[in-house]
Amino acid sequence: MSIIPVSTKRLNERTVAVWDPVVRYGHWALVLAFAAAYLSGEEEAGGADALHVWSGYIVGVIVAVRVVWGFIGPRYARFSDFIYGPAQIVRYLNDLVRGRGRRYLGHSPAGGAMVIALLVCLTGTVGTGLVAYGQAGKGPLAAVVPAIVTPSHADEDGHGASLPSPATRDAASAALAESEREGGTVGELHDLFANVTLALAVLHVLGVGLASFMHRESLVKAMIFGTKRAED
Ligand code: HEM
Repeated sequence: MSIIPVSTKRLNERTVAVWDPVVRYGHWALVLAFAAAYLSGEEEAGGADALHVWSGYIVGVIVAVRVVWGFIGPRYARFSDFIYGPAQIVRYLNDLVRGRGRRYLGHSPAGGAMVIALLVCLTGTVGTGLVAYGQAGKGPLAAVVPAIVTPSHADEDGHGASLPSPATRDAASAALAESEREGGTVGELHDLFANVTLALAVLHVLGVGLASFMHRESLVKAMIFGTKRAED
């Protein structure tokens, strides 16, 4: 009687495709674009330069594609696969710190919540950036968003009125320079969103490290190659 040898190693190495190319390439492109936008937006870098603006547009496109993919993409890419209630998220985190967090093939409840938080904050960052840039008279929203400073010296009938005093002119140009640099309140909101996104990204990477350690599998490798060990 012949016994066909079954290799345990082979069985253990069975993998399953989890992350499709849109998710994987989108993720690493997002990491690069966000890093470029964040670093080039630092004040020492002189505000919104071309690198900041273009990497910000790329972040916006990647997030938009990911949101659409969350509705039409394959199983593990869908929002319906990784949106959990608060109780499940808390239970998962509790279990995780006690070393008995369940292993998920797709995003875990906490991972899924982090993905949503990141996508929301990235949308907020890009949205406020576009508005602030528009207020400075630049970008796709320039024609739609009213400029922060519109030094108009026309009277109510729209006829040109008296010339502004030098003091008014100085104040207007200082405010305009400020709006160019910061985009006013919207610009501050933009900075806030960007910093919250960065803080979330740091937490996200720590969470990825912790889950990888707990489940003895590299989630980073899975996000690069798309595969994970088949369900235990
Ligand atoms: C070098 C730093 C980073 C590493 C190593 C990393 C790693 C990962 C890994 C392993 C996953 C899959 C998590 C899981 O298995 O549930 C993931 C998902 C994700 N990460 Fe990161 N990440 C990094 C930085 C970032 C940054 C900076 C952002 C955004 C600002 C980000 C946004 C996301 C998003 C949105 C997902 C969900 C992917 C999807 O379902 O499309 N990541 N990341």
